[in-house]
Amino acid sequence: MHALSLATALFATATLAHTDCKSVDASIVRHTGYPVGVEETHSNIRLYIAKPDASSVRAKEKPTSAILYLTDVFGIELAENRLLADSFARAGYLTVAPDLFNNEHATGDINVPGFNTSAFLARHGPEVTDPIIASAINHLRTVYGIKKIGLTGYCFGGRYSFRFVGEGKGGDAAFAAHPSLLGNDEIQAIKGPAAIAAAETDGMLTPARKSEVEALLGKGTVPWSVSLYSGTNHGFAVRANISDPEQKWGKEEAFLQAVRWFDRFL
Ligand SMILES: *[C@@H]1O[C@H](CO)[C@@H](O)[C@H](O)[C@H]1NC(C)=O
Ligand SMILES: *[C@@H]1O[C@H](CO)[C@@H](O)[C@H](O)[C@H]1NC(C)=O
Repeated sequence: MHALSLATALFATATLAHTDCKSVDASIVRHTGYPVGVEETHSNIRLYIAKPDASSVRAKEKPTSAILYLTDVFGIELAENRLLADSFARAGYLTVAPDLFNNEHATGDINVPGFNTSAFLARHGPEVTDPIIASAINHLRTVYGIKKIGLTGYCFGGRYSFRFVGEGKGGDAAFAAHPSLLGNDEIQAIKGPAAIAAAETDGMLTPARKSEVEALLGKGTVPWSVSLYSGTNHGFAVRANISDPEQKWGKEEAFLQAVRWFDRFL
């Protein structure tokens, strides 16, 4: 058997093994390989769409729930983002990731010299990002008949998970991994349950800031949860170094944290 067909056969086996299973575990997280979702354009917004297997027991249990995947600055071009969206579909949820950057995602780490982070963020503030997410939510409701939406966001996208469980925004539960630029007002405005996966080393969500976030969540009235993963850095829930067992485990746990959160609230 050629290496590729062997890989395909192994992949097919792994996929099938989960269609009749109610529980999720780390084996459904795909770190490498080929994304299996499709790209479509609606209302001038590119969407990466990952659908659960038709025979998935978990998908049949919640046919009107879906996940909106809000990326980091690398956008839906990044294979790890597509693969993680595929993993949510493997967990039984229709998953849609909109292009938040209108074909202008960051091409390298925003901390490297030469990338003008402030200019990038200025071009992609809430006034342009909110309408893209609202359009994707509308697409899920009108085209797919979705009634409950979980938002999973990473770095840049994490803040928007919180924004979209605000009053009348259309989200039902939020999960954010290592959110950047999450404001106090945005935390105080949430009306749906919200969970955070935090990295041990994160200049955007320092221990001091994390304590403030927890205090604000504690003053609210909705369920919340914050988990901290040792040995991880900002970005780990998507871009972990999977050769490092602690980072790999942290990424998989953050994924399962999100799935269990959505299982509970969607
Ligand atoms: C980055 O962009 C801002 C405005 O968007 C500009 O003022 C600044 O000079 C730029 N910095 C560099 C290093 O190009
Ligand atoms: C990834 O982790 C492995 C194992 O800890 C390490 O040898 C390697 O240098 C790491 N790669 C990067 C890019 O940090």
